[in-house]
Amino acid sequence: MFKSKSEDAEYKRLSEGEDFESLENEPLQKNKRLTLLEKSSRDFSIIHTAVLLIEATLCALLITGFIALHQAKQALRQETSLDGLSRLASYNTSIKFQNGSEHMADSRDADDYWRDLLGSGGVISLDTEWARNQGLRPSAQSPTDSSQSIYQVDVFHALHCLNSIRQNLMSKTPPPWDEAHMLHCLDYVRSQLLCHPDLTLVTTNDLEEFVLDETHRCRDYGAVVEWVHRHRWIEFPEWLRTKSEKNHGHEAIHNHTMA
Ligand SMILES: *[C@@H]1O[C@H](CO)[C@@H](O)[C@H](O)[C@H]1NC(C)=O
Ligand SMILES: *[C@@H]1O[C@H](CO)[C@@H](O)[C@H](O)[C@H]1NC(C)=O
Ligand SMILES: *[C@@H]1O[C@H](CO)[C@@H](O)[C@H](O)[C@H]1NC(C)=O
Repeated sequence: MFKSKSEDAEYKRLSEGEDFESLENEPLQKNKRLTLLEKSSRDFSIIHTAVLLIEATLCALLITGFIALHQAKQALRQETSLDGLSRLASYNTSIKFQNGSEHMADSRDADDYWRDLLGSGGVISLDTEWARNQGLRPSAQSPTDSSQSIYQVDVFHALHCLNSIRQNLMSKTPPPWDEAHMLHCLDYVRSQLLCHPDLTLVTTNDLEEFVLDETHRCRDYGAVVEWVHRHRWIEFPEWLRTKSEKNHGHEAIHNHTMA
């Protein structure tokens, strides 16, 4: 490591061709040697720093990539979230409409049909935190579980409305005709039709009748019902019963949830 003065001098003379005068100047030589050592160690540390920088950049890129991937995954999950509700929006089913006049009749079978169709009224109970994370608007807190909020899947409102109209039209002993409610219901069905216009192109044989047996592209209603059943507010019928008992049997004017 430590070279003698003469070795040092010779090295200097050979390599740098300096004259004897400068060789006599010992402190200067030492300084020069130190400068050389410093320079090479500085070179080394520049390379070292560069390598570290590259490594750090690669790490940062990798981490950024992972974060981006995670966010993309999360966005995808949000899109198909609410336990697959958004997937139910796809029109993945083909249906030929049947002549279902008997569903509208004033009969026990028709009543049973509508009871099954309306089920729990599409009233569901969702974890409030979860609903908020899905971007849903806040809704009333569940009276039976403070961590849950209550929503209704809207098609059940429209179905309820249709059934109310049916009951008013068909019943031999009709309930007191609530005209305001019926008009609301008719208009609600109108709004639903304009919201989801069926674009099926139907054919005609006689230029008068256009409602032949075309195949319609539909959402899978059975899958919707399954989803609703999974999330239904189980205590809802019980809650309704208790409420109407408290009201001494007075029916609410707008009862959109049940048949
Ligand atoms: C339509 O899509 C829903 C949601 O992915 C699915 O549950 C259902 O089985 C599908 N129906 C058909 C007929 O493919
Ligand atoms: C539908 O079926 C009923 C009997 O259930 C029948 O009276 C009616 O004429 C049918 N309507 C059409 C358009 O086929
Ligand atoms: C809604 O209607 C159903 C069936 O007609 C009834 O059992 C229920 O008590 C009603 N709910 C309210 C809040 O009036």
